[in-house]
Amino acid sequence: MTKTNDEIWREYYEKALMRKHAPRTEFAIKSNESDLKVAIDSGCGTGSDTAYMAQLDYQVYSFDINPDSISICGKRFDNDPRVTLSKASFENYEHPKCGVIIANASLFFADPIQFQSTWNKMVTSLEKGGVFAGDFMGINDSWASGYRSSTTPMTKTEVEALFNNFEVIRFHERDEVGNTAIGKTKHWHTFSVVAIKRS
Ligand SMILES: C[S@@+](CC[C@H](N)C(=O)[O-])C[C@H]1O[C@@H](n2cnc3c(N)ncnc32)[C@H](O)[C@@H]1O
Repeated sequence: MTKTNDEIWREYYEKALMRKHAPRTEFAIKSNESDLKVAIDSGCGTGSDTAYMAQLDYQVYSFDINPDSISICGKRFDNDPRVTLSKASFENYEHPKCGVIIANASLFFADPIQFQSTWNKMVTSLEKGGVFAGDFMGINDSWASGYRSSTTPMTKTEVEALFNNFEVIRFHERDEVGNTAIGKTKHWHTFSVVAIKRS
């Protein structure tokens, strides 16, 4: 029987709960030149990056569109005053001012029609000297068309254009066959970026 979108995400969250935060999140935190120890975890999933940043005494604002994600994080960060959770989408979240934005493997699933306004909101919320770290979907990705929910595939030039007012300190393109977290094979085409806002 075909699994529903919710069932597939639940399977993903089960695996993701066993995972530590991304090493890139450590790099992003070290690169934060703003005075703000405030971070947004965009599409936070099971909250591994949130947990890492909260341990460093960051005030972390974490949101995800999926109620299962927020329920898992609600248990994980129960009564932690450093973490504020919201069930929200990239498109409707009200971004607080912050020094770090983490969007690990999440903006792939943003609404393509509203992407420019979503991105503008994210950039506006970031202080000068603050850091963005996240991934974008490339046009060769298996999920670039016909995926079970909307995705935002972009060319390299389109991704680069998002960072006009930034200093890009890490840029990695992946374009190869590989596995998903739940063991399926697909073509991955992604751009992973860490960048400091300069103006
Ligand atoms: C691959 S998971 C990554 C989770 C987490 N960032 C991590 O690295 O473990 C992508 C997450 O993005 C969330 N997501 C998908 N579309 C979203 C949207 N429009 N707004 C907010 N979150 C979204 C999903 O619910 C999922 O939890």
